[in-house]
Amino acid sequence: MPVRPIVIGRDEEDAKRFGELGTITLGKHIVGTGEDAHLTNTIVMDVARPHVMLVLGKRGQGKSYTLATIAEGVTELPKDIRSNLSVVIIDTMGIFWSMKNPNEKQVELLAAWGLQPKAFDVTVYVPHGHKDFFHKEGIPYDGTYALNPSDLTPEDWALSFELSLIDPTGILLDRVVRKLKESGSYGIDDIIEAVDADRRAEPKVKEALQNRLLSAKEWGLFSSRGTPIEELLQPGKVSIIDTSLFSQLGEGWSVRSLLVGLVARRIYEARIAARRREETELITGTVAKKKIPLTWLMIDEAHQFLPADGRTAATEALLSLVKQGRQPGISCVFATQRPNKLHEDAISQADLVLTHRLTVKADIDALRSIMQTYVLFDITKYLNELPREKGVALVLDDNSERLFTLKVKPRQSWHAGDTPIALRVKEGLV
Ligand SMILES: Nc1ncnc2c1ncn2[C@@H]1O[C@H](COP(=O)(O)OP(=O)(O)OP(=O)(O)O)[C@@H](O)[C@H]1O
Ligand SMILES: [Mg+2]
Repeated sequence: MPVRPIVIGRDEEDAKRFGELGTITLGKHIVGTGEDAHLTNTIVMDVARPHVMLVLGKRGQGKSYTLATIAEGVTELPKDIRSNLSVVIIDTMGIFWSMKNPNEKQVELLAAWGLQPKAFDVTVYVPHGHKDFFHKEGIPYDGTYALNPSDLTPEDWALSFELSLIDPTGILLDRVVRKLKESGSYGIDDIIEAVDADRRAEPKVKEALQNRLLSAKEWGLFSSRGTPIEELLQPGKVSIIDTSLFSQLGEGWSVRSLLVGLVARRIYEARIAARRREETELITGTVAKKKIPLTWLMIDEAHQFLPADGRTAATEALLSLVKQGRQPGISCVFATQRPNKLHEDAISQADLVLTHRLTVKADIDALRSIMQTYVLFDITKYLNELPREKGVALVLDDNSERLFTLKVKPRQSWHAGDTPIALRVKEGLV
Protein backbone atom coordinates (compact mmCIF):
# COMPACT_ATOMS: atom_id res chain seq x y z
CA MET A 1 0.00 0.00 0.00
CA PRO A 2 1.42 3.45 -0.84
CA VAL A 3 2.43 5.47 2.20
CA ARG A 4 0.04 8.37 2.74
CA PRO A 5 1.53 11.81 3.17
CA ILE A 6 1.27 13.55 6.51
CA VAL A 7 -0.95 16.62 6.19
CA ILE A 8 -0.12 19.63 8.33
CA GLY A 9 -2.07 22.89 8.70
CA ARG A 10 -5.43 21.13 8.85
CA ASP A 11 -7.70 20.17 11.66
CA GLU A 12 -9.26 16.74 11.69
CA GLU A 13 -12.43 17.84 9.96
CA ASP A 14 -10.67 19.52 7.02
CA ALA A 15 -8.20 16.66 6.79
CA LYS A 16 -11.07 14.21 6.40
CA ARG A 17 -13.02 16.41 4.04
CA PHE A 18 -10.25 17.48 1.65
CA GLY A 19 -7.58 14.79 1.96
CA GLU A 20 -4.51 16.16 0.19
CA LEU A 21 -6.40 18.54 -2.05
CA GLY A 22 -5.11 22.12 -1.74
CA THR A 23 -1.82 21.11 -0.15
CA ILE A 24 1.76 21.57 -1.28
CA THR A 25 4.75 19.35 -0.60
CA LEU A 26 6.82 20.83 2.20
CA GLY A 27 9.29 18.01 2.69
CA LYS A 28 9.78 14.57 4.17
CA HIS A 29 9.38 13.33 7.69
CA ILE A 30 12.64 12.45 9.43
CA VAL A 31 12.45 9.45 11.70
CA GLY A 32 15.18 8.52 14.18
CA THR A 33 18.03 10.65 15.46
CA GLY A 34 21.75 10.93 14.78
CA GLU A 35 23.10 8.25 12.46
CA ASP A 36 19.76 6.45 12.39
CA ALA A 37 17.89 9.45 10.99
CA HIS A 38 16.17 8.69 7.69
CA LEU A 39 13.48 10.19 5.49
CA THR A 40 10.04 8.59 5.46
CA ASN A 41 6.58 9.99 4.59
CA THR A 42 6.09 13.10 2.54
CA ILE A 43 4.79 16.05 4.57
CA VAL A 44 2.28 18.23 2.76
CA MET A 45 0.97 21.56 3.99
CA ASP A 46 -2.45 23.11 3.60
CA VAL A 47 -2.48 26.32 1.56
CA ALA A 48 -6.22 26.45 0.95
CA ARG A 49 -7.05 28.04 4.30
CA PRO A 50 -5.42 31.13 5.79
CA HIS A 51 -2.50 30.61 8.16
CA VAL A 52 0.07 32.52 10.12
CA MET A 53 3.34 30.70 9.69
CA LEU A 54 6.76 31.34 11.15
CA VAL A 55 9.93 30.14 9.46
CA LEU A 56 12.79 30.34 11.94
CA GLY A 57 16.40 29.36 12.29
CA LYS A 58 19.84 30.80 12.74
CA ARG A 59 21.86 32.13 9.84
CA GLY A 60 22.24 30.01 6.76
CA GLN A 61 19.99 27.16 7.86
CA GLY A 62 17.42 27.43 5.07
CA LYS A 63 14.74 30.03 5.89
CA SER A 64 14.77 31.89 2.57
CA TYR A 65 15.12 28.57 0.78
CA THR A 66 12.03 27.25 2.57
CA LEU A 67 10.03 30.35 1.56
CA ALA A 68 10.89 29.69 -2.07
CA THR A 69 9.97 26.00 -1.72
CA ILE A 70 6.53 27.06 -0.47
CA ALA A 71 6.08 29.60 -3.30
CA GLU A 72 7.08 26.94 -5.85
CA GLY A 73 4.54 24.61 -4.30
CA VAL A 74 1.70 27.08 -4.81
CA THR A 75 2.52 27.53 -8.51
CA GLU A 76 2.54 23.73 -8.93
CA LEU A 77 -1.03 23.29 -7.69
CA PRO A 78 -3.69 22.24 -10.17
CA LYS A 79 -4.97 25.28 -12.07
CA ASP A 80 -8.43 25.35 -10.51
CA ILE A 81 -6.89 25.60 -7.02
CA ARG A 82 -3.90 27.74 -7.95
CA SER A 83 -6.12 30.35 -9.55
CA ASN A 84 -7.73 31.01 -6.17
CA LEU A 85 -4.36 31.91 -4.69
CA SER A 86 -1.69 34.54 -5.11
CA VAL A 87 1.69 34.93 -3.44
CA VAL A 88 3.53 38.16 -2.65
CA ILE A 89 7.13 37.88 -1.47
CA ILE A 90 8.85 40.81 0.20
CA ASP A 91 12.43 40.24 -0.83
CA THR A 92 14.84 42.15 1.38
CA MET A 93 18.07 40.64 0.04
CA GLY A 94 17.29 40.60 -3.68
CA ILE A 95 17.52 36.83 -3.96
CA PHE A 96 14.11 35.61 -5.11
CA TRP A 97 14.38 36.74 -8.75
CA SER A 98 16.42 33.58 -9.28
CA MET A 99 13.20 31.53 -9.12
CA LYS A 100 13.17 32.31 -12.84
CA ASN A 101 16.16 29.98 -13.27
CA PRO A 102 16.39 26.21 -12.84
CA ASN A 103 18.36 24.82 -9.88
CA GLU A 104 21.32 23.36 -11.72
CA LYS A 105 23.35 23.42 -8.50
CA GLN A 106 21.51 20.62 -6.73
CA VAL A 107 20.74 18.29 -9.61
CA GLU A 108 21.70 15.15 -7.71
CA LEU A 109 19.74 16.11 -4.64
CA LEU A 110 16.70 16.84 -6.79
CA ALA A 111 17.07 13.52 -8.57
CA ALA A 112 17.09 11.73 -5.21
CA TRP A 113 13.67 13.29 -4.63
CA GLY A 114 12.48 12.35 -8.11
CA LEU A 115 12.63 15.99 -9.20
CA GLN A 116 14.34 18.03 -11.87
CA PRO A 117 15.58 21.62 -12.06
CA LYS A 118 12.85 23.93 -13.27
CA ALA A 119 12.34 27.64 -13.95
CA PHE A 120 9.26 29.33 -12.52
CA ASP A 121 7.19 32.03 -14.09
CA VAL A 122 7.36 34.56 -11.26
CA THR A 123 6.94 38.32 -11.65
CA VAL A 124 9.70 40.47 -10.20
CA TYR A 125 9.03 44.09 -9.34
CA VAL A 126 11.81 46.58 -8.64
CA PRO A 127 11.49 50.15 -7.33
CA HIS A 128 10.36 52.47 -10.07
CA GLY A 129 13.28 54.88 -9.49
CA HIS A 130 15.96 52.17 -9.58
CA LYS A 131 15.18 50.22 -12.69
CA ASP A 132 18.35 51.42 -14.43
CA PHE A 133 20.45 49.75 -11.77
CA PHE A 134 18.79 46.36 -12.34
CA HIS A 135 19.13 46.85 -16.05
CA LYS A 136 22.84 47.59 -15.75
CA GLU A 137 23.45 44.63 -13.44
CA GLY A 138 21.59 42.31 -15.78
CA ILE A 139 19.12 41.29 -13.09
CA PRO A 140 15.86 40.35 -14.77
CA TYR A 141 12.68 42.08 -13.67
CA ASP A 142 9.21 42.32 -15.08
CA GLY A 143 7.77 45.50 -13.69
CA THR A 144 8.32 48.39 -11.38
CA TYR A 145 6.47 49.42 -8.27
CA ALA A 146 5.83 52.82 -6.82
CA LEU A 147 3.84 54.46 -4.06
CA ASN A 148 1.65 57.48 -4.58
CA PRO A 149 2.60 60.07 -1.92
CA SER A 150 -1.05 60.94 -1.42
CA ASP A 151 -1.68 57.39 -0.15
CA LEU A 152 0.54 58.02 2.87
CA THR A 153 -0.89 59.21 6.17
CA PRO A 154 0.99 61.75 8.31
CA GLU A 155 1.87 58.83 10.57
CA ASP A 156 3.38 56.86 7.65
CA TRP A 157 5.63 59.80 6.87
CA ALA A 158 6.53 60.32 10.51
CA LEU A 159 7.47 56.66 11.00
CA SER A 160 9.55 56.63 7.83
CA PHE A 161 11.34 59.81 8.85
CA GLU A 162 11.64 58.55 12.41
CA LEU A 163 9.89 61.68 13.63
CA SER A 164 7.41 62.05 16.44
CA LEU A 165 4.11 63.63 15.53
CA ILE A 166 4.32 65.72 18.69
CA ASP A 167 7.68 67.31 17.84
CA PRO A 168 7.52 70.67 16.04
CA THR A 169 8.57 69.04 12.73
CA GLY A 170 6.02 66.28 13.21
CA ILE A 171 3.28 68.76 14.07
CA LEU A 172 4.01 70.72 10.90
CA LEU A 173 4.03 67.52 8.85
CA ASP A 174 0.72 66.43 10.29
CA ARG A 175 -0.90 69.82 9.64
CA VAL A 176 0.36 70.11 6.07
CA VAL A 177 -0.48 66.55 4.99
CA ARG A 178 -3.95 66.68 6.52
CA LYS A 179 -4.67 69.89 4.65
CA LEU A 180 -3.42 68.46 1.35
CA LYS A 181 -5.57 65.37 1.83
CA GLU A 182 -8.64 67.57 1.51
CA SER A 183 -7.61 68.49 -2.02
CA GLY A 184 -7.14 65.03 -3.63
CA SER A 185 -3.93 63.71 -5.17
CA TYR A 186 -0.59 65.40 -4.50
CA GLY A 187 3.12 64.73 -4.86
CA ILE A 188 6.18 65.35 -2.68
CA ASP A 189 6.77 68.73 -4.37
CA ASP A 190 3.27 69.76 -3.34
CA ILE A 191 4.07 68.86 0.26
CA ILE A 192 7.33 70.84 0.10
CA GLU A 193 5.43 73.84 -1.25
CA ALA A 194 2.75 73.53 1.37
CA VAL A 195 5.44 73.48 4.06
CA ASP A 196 6.81 76.69 2.58
CA ALA A 197 3.41 78.31 2.62
CA ASP A 198 2.69 77.36 6.24
CA ARG A 199 2.41 80.44 8.42
CA ARG A 200 2.71 78.94 11.84
CA ALA A 201 5.97 77.00 11.78
CA GLU A 202 9.41 78.49 12.36
CA PRO A 203 11.76 78.67 9.35
CA LYS A 204 14.22 76.16 10.78
CA VAL A 205 11.44 73.64 11.44
CA LYS A 206 10.21 74.10 7.87
CA GLU A 207 13.69 73.61 6.53
CA ALA A 208 14.21 70.43 8.55
CA LEU A 209 11.03 68.92 7.17
CA GLN A 210 11.74 70.02 3.62
CA ASN A 211 15.15 68.36 3.80
CA ARG A 212 13.52 65.10 4.81
CA LEU A 213 11.04 65.36 1.98
CA LEU A 214 13.79 66.11 -0.51
CA SER A 215 15.66 63.03 0.64
CA ALA A 216 12.45 60.99 0.28
CA LYS A 217 12.41 61.98 -3.39
CA GLU A 218 15.72 60.20 -3.74
CA TRP A 219 14.32 56.90 -2.48
CA GLY A 220 13.11 56.06 -5.96
CA LEU A 221 9.84 54.87 -4.48
CA PHE A 222 7.31 57.55 -5.31
CA SER A 223 5.31 58.29 -8.39
CA SER A 224 1.95 59.90 -9.03
CA ARG A 225 0.91 56.50 -10.33
CA GLY A 226 1.20 54.11 -7.41
CA THR A 227 1.16 50.40 -8.30
CA PRO A 228 -2.42 49.13 -8.03
CA ILE A 229 -2.60 46.18 -5.66
CA GLU A 230 -4.67 44.21 -8.20
CA GLU A 231 -1.56 44.04 -10.35
CA LEU A 232 0.31 42.12 -7.67
CA LEU A 233 -2.57 39.88 -6.69
CA GLN A 234 -3.42 37.93 -9.78
CA PRO A 235 -4.71 34.38 -9.83
CA GLY A 236 -1.93 31.82 -9.50
CA LYS A 237 0.75 34.48 -9.62
CA VAL A 238 3.89 34.89 -7.49
CA SER A 239 4.88 38.57 -7.21
CA ILE A 240 8.34 39.29 -5.86
CA ILE A 241 8.92 42.78 -4.52
CA ASP A 242 12.64 43.41 -4.53
CA THR A 243 13.50 45.91 -1.80
CA SER A 244 17.20 45.07 -1.59
CA LEU A 245 18.45 48.38 -3.00
CA PHE A 246 17.00 50.36 -0.11
CA SER A 247 19.71 48.87 2.08
CA GLN A 248 22.01 51.53 0.61
CA LEU A 249 19.97 54.24 2.29
CA GLY A 250 20.58 55.24 5.90
CA GLU A 251 16.85 54.94 6.47
CA GLY A 252 16.68 51.66 4.50
CA TRP A 253 14.51 49.70 6.90
CA SER A 254 12.08 52.58 7.45
CA VAL A 255 11.61 52.94 3.71
CA ARG A 256 11.02 49.22 3.31
CA SER A 257 8.59 49.25 6.23
CA LEU A 258 6.67 52.05 4.63
CA LEU A 259 6.34 49.99 1.50
CA VAL A 260 5.41 46.79 3.34
CA GLY A 261 2.88 48.68 5.45
CA LEU A 262 1.14 50.08 2.39
CA VAL A 263 1.19 46.78 0.52
CA ALA A 264 -0.22 44.97 3.56
CA ARG A 265 -2.91 47.61 4.01
CA ARG A 266 -3.93 47.40 0.36
CA ILE A 267 -4.01 43.59 0.41
CA TYR A 268 -6.26 43.74 3.44
CA GLU A 269 -8.64 46.25 1.87
CA ALA A 270 -8.72 44.40 -1.44
CA ARG A 271 -9.46 41.06 0.20
CA ILE A 272 -12.12 42.51 2.50
CA ALA A 273 -13.91 43.89 -0.58
CA ALA A 274 -13.39 40.63 -2.47
CA ARG A 275 -14.74 38.62 0.44
CA ARG A 276 -17.90 40.69 0.37
CA ARG A 277 -18.31 40.00 -3.36
CA GLU A 278 -17.66 36.28 -2.80
CA GLU A 279 -20.36 36.15 -0.13
CA THR A 280 -22.79 37.94 -2.44
CA GLU A 281 -21.97 35.42 -5.17
CA LEU A 282 -22.74 32.59 -2.78
CA ILE A 283 -26.02 34.13 -1.72
CA THR A 284 -27.28 35.33 -5.10
CA GLY A 285 -25.63 32.80 -7.41
CA THR A 286 -24.24 35.61 -9.63
CA VAL A 287 -20.56 35.62 -10.55
CA ALA A 288 -18.58 38.76 -9.78
CA LYS A 289 -16.26 40.02 -12.52
CA LYS A 290 -13.51 41.28 -10.30
CA LYS A 291 -11.60 38.54 -8.50
CA ILE A 292 -8.85 39.00 -5.96
CA PRO A 293 -7.46 35.62 -4.95
CA LEU A 294 -6.67 34.56 -1.40
CA THR A 295 -3.22 35.89 -0.67
CA TRP A 296 -0.06 34.52 0.88
CA LEU A 297 2.20 37.34 1.99
CA MET A 298 5.74 36.13 2.68
CA ILE A 299 8.19 38.35 4.46
CA ASP A 300 11.86 37.53 4.86
CA GLU A 301 13.67 39.19 7.81
CA ALA A 302 10.23 39.84 9.31
CA HIS A 303 11.52 41.13 12.67
CA GLN A 304 12.61 44.28 10.85
CA PHE A 305 9.02 45.07 9.89
CA LEU A 306 7.14 43.75 12.89
CA PRO A 307 9.58 44.12 15.76
CA ALA A 308 8.97 43.08 19.35
CA ASP A 309 9.97 46.55 20.54
CA GLY A 310 8.97 49.81 18.91
CA ARG A 311 6.86 50.43 15.85
CA THR A 312 7.56 50.68 12.17
CA ALA A 313 5.37 51.97 9.36
CA ALA A 314 4.41 48.33 8.75
CA THR A 315 3.54 47.36 12.31
CA GLU A 316 -0.12 48.28 12.33
CA ALA A 317 -0.94 46.85 8.91
CA LEU A 318 0.88 43.58 9.61
CA LEU A 319 -0.82 43.22 12.98
CA SER A 320 -4.20 43.59 11.26
CA LEU A 321 -3.27 40.76 8.93
CA VAL A 322 -2.04 38.62 11.79
CA LYS A 323 -5.11 39.22 13.93
CA GLN A 324 -7.85 39.66 11.36
CA GLY A 325 -6.47 38.09 8.20
CA ARG A 326 -8.38 34.84 8.58
CA GLN A 327 -11.77 36.18 7.56
CA PRO A 328 -10.57 37.93 4.35
CA GLY A 329 -8.35 34.91 3.59
CA ILE A 330 -4.84 36.31 4.00
CA SER A 331 -1.95 34.14 5.10
CA CYS A 332 1.32 35.49 6.44
CA VAL A 333 4.65 33.72 6.41
CA PHE A 334 7.26 35.44 8.52
CA ALA A 335 10.87 34.34 8.28
CA THR A 336 13.35 35.47 10.90
CA GLN A 337 16.61 34.51 12.56
CA ARG A 338 15.44 36.13 15.75
CA PRO A 339 11.98 35.06 16.95
CA ASN A 340 12.78 36.87 20.17
CA LYS A 341 12.85 40.12 18.20
CA LEU A 342 9.56 39.47 16.44
CA HIS A 343 6.32 41.01 17.74
CA GLU A 344 4.69 38.75 20.31
CA ASP A 345 1.35 38.78 18.45
CA ALA A 346 2.97 37.24 15.38
CA ILE A 347 4.32 34.51 17.61
CA SER A 348 1.16 33.89 19.58
CA GLN A 349 -1.08 33.88 16.47
CA ALA A 350 1.12 31.50 14.48
CA ASP A 351 -0.57 28.17 13.82
CA LEU A 352 2.38 26.73 11.89
CA VAL A 353 5.95 27.08 13.06
CA LEU A 354 8.79 25.69 11.04
CA THR A 355 12.05 26.07 12.86
CA HIS A 356 15.51 25.19 11.66
CA ARG A 357 18.31 25.13 14.20
CA LEU A 358 18.25 27.91 16.79
CA THR A 359 20.92 28.33 19.41
CA VAL A 360 20.35 31.67 21.12
CA LYS A 361 18.57 31.02 24.40
CA ALA A 362 16.31 34.09 24.13
CA ASP A 363 15.07 32.85 20.73
CA ILE A 364 14.37 29.37 22.02
CA ASP A 365 12.55 30.92 24.97
CA ALA A 366 10.39 32.94 22.57
CA LEU A 367 9.39 29.66 20.95
CA ARG A 368 8.70 28.06 24.27
CA SER A 369 5.74 30.40 24.72
CA ILE A 370 3.99 28.77 21.77
CA MET A 371 4.81 25.23 22.71
CA GLN A 372 1.46 23.67 23.35
CA THR A 373 0.24 20.87 25.49
CA TYR A 374 0.73 18.37 22.66
CA VAL A 375 4.49 18.76 22.92
CA LEU A 376 5.93 16.19 25.27
CA PHE A 377 9.39 17.56 25.92
CA ASP A 378 11.15 20.85 26.12
CA ILE A 379 11.78 22.45 22.72
CA THR A 380 15.54 22.45 23.37
CA LYS A 381 15.53 18.66 23.29
CA TYR A 382 13.85 18.60 19.88
CA LEU A 383 16.13 21.29 18.48
CA ASN A 384 19.25 19.55 19.78
CA GLU A 385 18.20 16.31 18.15
CA LEU A 386 17.77 17.85 14.69
CA PRO A 387 20.26 16.31 12.26
CA ARG A 388 22.92 18.92 11.44
CA GLU A 389 22.02 19.40 7.85
CA LYS A 390 20.72 22.38 5.89
CA GLY A 391 17.00 22.35 5.31
CA VAL A 392 16.23 20.23 8.34
CA ALA A 393 13.57 21.66 10.63
CA LEU A 394 11.04 21.02 13.31
CA VAL A 395 7.48 21.82 12.40
CA LEU A 396 4.83 22.55 15.01
CA ASP A 397 1.29 22.33 13.77
CA ASP A 398 -1.32 23.81 16.02
CA ASN A 399 -4.14 22.64 13.71
CA SER A 400 -3.46 18.95 14.09
CA GLU A 401 -1.65 19.46 17.41
CA ARG A 402 1.34 17.53 16.22
CA LEU A 403 5.05 18.07 15.81
CA PHE A 404 7.38 16.61 13.18
CA THR A 405 11.00 16.71 12.21
CA LEU A 406 11.37 17.21 8.49
CA LYS A 407 13.75 17.86 5.67
CA VAL A 408 12.43 20.63 3.45
CA LYS A 409 11.94 19.65 -0.17
CA PRO A 410 14.76 20.84 -2.42
CA ARG A 411 13.99 23.81 -4.63
CA GLN A 412 13.59 23.21 -8.31
CA SER A 413 14.56 26.80 -8.98
CA TRP A 414 17.97 28.34 -8.40
CA HIS A 415 18.71 29.64 -4.88
CA ALA A 416 20.52 32.95 -5.13
CA GLY A 417 21.05 33.31 -1.41
CA ASP A 418 23.85 30.76 -1.20
CA THR A 419 26.58 31.17 1.37
CA PRO A 420 29.66 32.45 -0.49
CA ILE A 421 32.99 30.77 0.02
CA ALA A 422 36.38 32.45 -0.21
CA LEU A 423 38.03 29.31 -1.54
CA ARG A 424 38.28 28.76 -5.23
CA VAL A 425 38.26 25.02 -5.54
CA LYS A 426 39.41 23.60 -8.86
CA GLU A 427 36.75 21.57 -10.55
CA GLY A 428 37.02 17.91 -9.77
CA LEU A 429 39.19 18.37 -6.67
CA VAL A 430 36.32 18.19 -4.21
N1 LIG B 1 15.90 22.22 2.06
C1 LIG B 1 17.15 22.35 1.65
N2 LIG B 1 17.72 21.43 0.87
C2 LIG B 1 18.99 21.58 0.44
N3 LIG B 1 19.77 22.63 0.73
C3 LIG B 1 19.27 23.59 1.50
C4 LIG B 1 17.93 23.50 2.00
N4 LIG B 1 17.70 24.60 2.73
C5 LIG B 1 18.83 25.33 2.69
N5 LIG B 1 19.78 24.73 1.96
C6 LIG B 1 21.14 25.24 1.72
O1 LIG B 1 21.48 26.13 2.76
C7 LIG B 1 21.89 27.40 2.25
C8 LIG B 1 21.40 28.54 3.13
O2 LIG B 1 19.98 28.63 3.09
P1 LIG B 1 19.23 30.02 3.19
O3 LIG B 1 19.84 31.04 2.30
O4 LIG B 1 17.80 29.75 3.00
O5 LIG B 1 19.52 30.40 4.70
P2 LIG B 1 18.78 31.44 5.65
O6 LIG B 1 18.29 30.69 6.84
O7 LIG B 1 17.80 32.24 4.90
O8 LIG B 1 20.01 32.35 6.11
P3 LIG B 1 20.06 33.91 6.50
O9 LIG B 1 19.50 34.03 7.88
O10 LIG B 1 21.54 34.24 6.49
O11 LIG B 1 19.26 34.66 5.50
C9 LIG B 1 21.31 27.43 0.83
O12 LIG B 1 22.13 28.17 -0.01
C10 LIG B 1 21.24 25.99 0.41
O13 LIG B 1 22.43 25.62 -0.23
MG1 LIG C 1 17.72 34.22 4.31
